[in-house]
Amino acid sequence: MQVQIDTIGDKFLGSDLKILSSFQKNSKPSVDHWSDKGLKEDYQMLKVAKNYKAAKDETLSFTGATGETVWVIGLGDKAKFTAEDLRKSVAKVFKSAKGKFDSIAFDVPGFNVVRDEVLTAKLIAESLYLTDYSFEKYKSKKSEAKEIKAILGHIEKKNASKVEKAVTSVKNIGESINIIKDFVNEAPNVLHSEEYAKRIEADVKKNLKGVKVKILNKAQIQKEKMGMLLAVNAGSAYEPRIVHLTYEPAKSNSKTKHIALVGKGITFDTGGYSLKPGAGMMGMKNDMGGSATVYGAFRAAVLEKAPVKITCILAMTDNAVNEHATMPDSIVTARNGKTVEILNTDAEGRLILGDALDYACDQNPHYIIDAATLTGACLVALGNQVCAILGNDQKWINEVLAAAGDQDEYMWQLPIINEWRQDLKSKVADIKNIGTPMRAGTALGAAFLEEFIKNDIKWAHLDIAGVVEAQSHLPYCASHGASGLIVRTLTHLLVNGK
Ligand code: BES
Ligand code: MN
Ligand code: ZN
Repeated sequence: MQVQIDTIGDKFLGSDLKILSSFQKNSKPSVDHWSDKGLKEDYQMLKVAKNYKAAKDETLSFTGATGETVWVIGLGDKAKFTAEDLRKSVAKVFKSAKGKFDSIAFDVPGFNVVRDEVLTAKLIAESLYLTDYSFEKYKSKKSEAKEIKAILGHIEKKNASKVEKAVTSVKNIGESINIIKDFVNEAPNVLHSEEYAKRIEADVKKNLKGVKVKILNKAQIQKEKMGMLLAVNAGSAYEPRIVHLTYEPAKSNSKTKHIALVGKGITFDTGGYSLKPGAGMMGMKNDMGGSATVYGAFRAAVLEKAPVKITCILAMTDNAVNEHATMPDSIVTARNGKTVEILNTDAEGRLILGDALDYACDQNPHYIIDAATLTGACLVALGNQVCAILGNDQKWINEVLAAAGDQDEYMWQLPIINEWRQDLKSKVADIKNIGTPMRAGTALGAAFLEEFIKNDIKWAHLDIAGVVEAQSHLPYCASHGASGLIVRTLTHLLVNGK
């Protein structure tokens, strides 16, 4: 994807496909805002224009004077058309245009429904980068669609440098999202823990100058006494990994905020001895989505030169079964010294994250945020579209919620109450890894994680089990596979100082 900015109008003029908007004014479609007089005349001559209502996403196509294609996109009531509507409309346009046109140009002022031309250009570019993704690695026959050149047309001269900057930043974010979609979509027989850590390391070395990488292997994880991560890894053919990344902004001082990101990287979740039924096991390659999400945000924030120090901890293993696999009723000692009765080996995410969170606390961050495909219960509570947030500090949670709101990503808070904390007490160890079955599953998972937060560090947990996969309501996410959602929220949080 190539995105160019056009302030003079010549690139707009020269493109194969011109995309203009029309909205309803006094219940009639209005094209008064088109700066191109010739096009306006062409449009008014059209017989089909008489039936055109400019309803939301209603598209009218015609051929311009020089043989170019013109698409008029209906915005309906302009006042009701939101930033997210714009992302969706652009995604639909891009999907219809891909493979048919070499260059497509948007009349940006016509889509300025947010009353901010720079933001409008940014939203268009963002949607283009996100929509232009497919996972074709294993297809013998790849789609032949050529790369599209997209033009942001009729940008006001005074906004040009700001738009340029905005496009660079959405490129950084969009590419980071698309890279992590590749990780999530990769097959689990290929992307096991050892390979996953290698791929992250290679990406950091290649693209993130100045970031420190430390990768703990099994011997080092044993030295760290991460008994829970090791228990999950016991049934695996591969070594576990902890990937530890550190970024410090150029102007770092004692006041610089330090945020730790922690992610669940279960490269495949069979359930272990508490084996998942076949239908429930399919798709469990996505169980490393939390680690991919926080890595995507880390990557984008580094490229965007975020003003905060960021530690990123990714805990990786599969949850498999062999003769060494941990059996239910096992008791292990976590890195923080607590003893844990593992009653269900399918509640493995909280085990590996518990040790990773304790390790993250030792890096002395001011704030922690973790992301995990932690519970199926999250899908029951919030469906496929909404990410759950829980934590120990309302202000911090509110900041994350505000960032999600800013990015139009659905996020909803669930409580952690003392009764649910009590539910995790074990008769034979300090805690157990499951509570009452079929009750408040998402919160019980979070309550377990809370046991591993120390020094009153402000912590928020994101359960992305629902949103990790394709979002049929979002045309800028692929129709199948990884969604890439929540990276935008986290990046926004980091780049804006928190
Ligand atoms: N990875 C799953 C959660 C999950 C399920 C994510 C479905 C996406 C779709 C997690 O490790 C798990 O198996 N959780 C158990 C916890 C239970 C045993 C307490 C679950 O949700 O059933
Ligand atoms: Mn599981
Ligand atoms: Zn899992």
